[in-house]
Amino acid sequence: MARRFGSAMISKTDSTRLIYAIGYIRVKGCKGQDGDSFSQFVPESAMERERAQRSGLYTGATMSTHGDTPNRSRSKAMQERAERYFPGGVNSPVRAFRAVGGEPPFVERADGAWLTDADGNRYIDYFGSWGPMILGHAFPPVVEAIERTARNSASFGASTAAEADLAERVSACYPVLEKMRFVSSGTEATMSAIRLARAATGRKVIVKFEGCYHGHADGLLVKAGSGVATFGIPGSAGVPEEIAGLTLALPYNDLAAVEAAFAVHPGAIAAVILEPVVGNAGCIAPADGYLGGLRAITAREGALLIVDEVMTGFRVALGGACERYGIDADLVTLGKIVGGGLPVGVFGGKRQFMDMLAPLGPVYQAGTLSGNPLAMAAGIATVRYLQEHAEPVYPQLEATAQAVFEGVAAEAAKAGVAMTLNRVGSMGTWFFTPGPVRNYDEAATSDTERFGRFHRAMLER
Ligand SMILES: Cc1ncc(COP(=O)(O)O)c(C=O)c1O
Repeated sequence: MARRFGSAMISKTDSTRLIYAIGYIRVKGCKGQDGDSFSQFVPESAMERERAQRSGLYTGATMSTHGDTPNRSRSKAMQERAERYFPGGVNSPVRAFRAVGGEPPFVERADGAWLTDADGNRYIDYFGSWGPMILGHAFPPVVEAIERTARNSASFGASTAAEADLAERVSACYPVLEKMRFVSSGTEATMSAIRLARAATGRKVIVKFEGCYHGHADGLLVKAGSGVATFGIPGSAGVPEEIAGLTLALPYNDLAAVEAAFAVHPGAIAAVILEPVVGNAGCIAPADGYLGGLRAITAREGALLIVDEVMTGFRVALGGACERYGIDADLVTLGKIVGGGLPVGVFGGKRQFMDMLAPLGPVYQAGTLSGNPLAMAAGIATVRYLQEHAEPVYPQLEATAQAVFEGVAAEAAKAGVAMTLNRVGSMGTWFFTPGPVRNYDEAATSDTERFGRFHRAMLER
């Protein structure tokens, strides 16, 4: 059976320019051909079985060891054209490859774990669209759901039953989400959760952790600070100091820093928001007792605990990090996988907080395309498949990710390259440093120039 590697890919950080995701690995000599490339790991339906049988492409014979330099002339022309319209030629900065160097391929299509660029080069996709494509590209149940729904129109600006259908599935996986709201991105989800936390507590200050990314809302773009009592400074031009000044950036995995922040700012901290497994500074696992410690401190201090599961949700377990680590969050944010590749974010949690939202309560939050029918359809198809196949999917994801991450780390060790591997499920990072890596400062010791070379070399293979 062909294996899928699409979701073995992991992590990014945009603003810090530390890029750890391996990206695509090119497969020499493979030109894109419709229908020949599907690979996935649980062939269930007749259609899926048939597609899996047609795959067979992940074999020693099709993998090159050292390739010729791929022709990317069409991608190059497309990039030049895009630069006329978009800053840097992109609609999201990491796509420009500035941190890793080289020229980004323009994608034409993808199927399973295989991606074809505009010049016909084929790659094993380790990105999985930065997370959402956990079931592989063009996964038949997702494609069918989108097609079926589109025939009845893409949007109504009125409620549909599909919204509660998806919500029911989400709260079955995340019991802490007693109530939720669908939005259109992870940024919207975290931004709204913070507004709610401020309203619920009547406080203004937010604690976040260095290296954690929660989207690009003003207050969350605070550059990593070092001192516990030091208020953040803006991490982006255009963010007023007054807004950045309401965010404290503390070192991850350091409960003493959190205790000290509450001691220095008594009664001022509305919420602590974190990535329960850091993905955006490279993969960093929570130390034993860290998540429980955060819960205990926030509960004692009357602050909300916001667990940002935009990356970890439905990924490190069906119920994400909340399930894997048994976290009793006040609010949870989700994105990526929950939309099956379409733009969906979720924020939700305890009823007492969620009922403060308009129209029930005084906290305003809204969205023309929130709960969009196409996005709900893709989300339902994805989450339903994960629920119904959790047993084969998650163990296989774990085993596949382990093979990829440990395989590369073993080769690095053989070659005498200093490397630290951090991995939680299918999230993982090869840090080019002797390590250990337990926080942002330690992640920043990784040799990013070397990682850039590695990234480019993988694209050339
Ligand atoms: C943990 C986390 N939170 C929030 C976001 C923002 O999500 P979006 O890019 O959909 O706005 C991301 C994006 O990668 C993320 O990784």
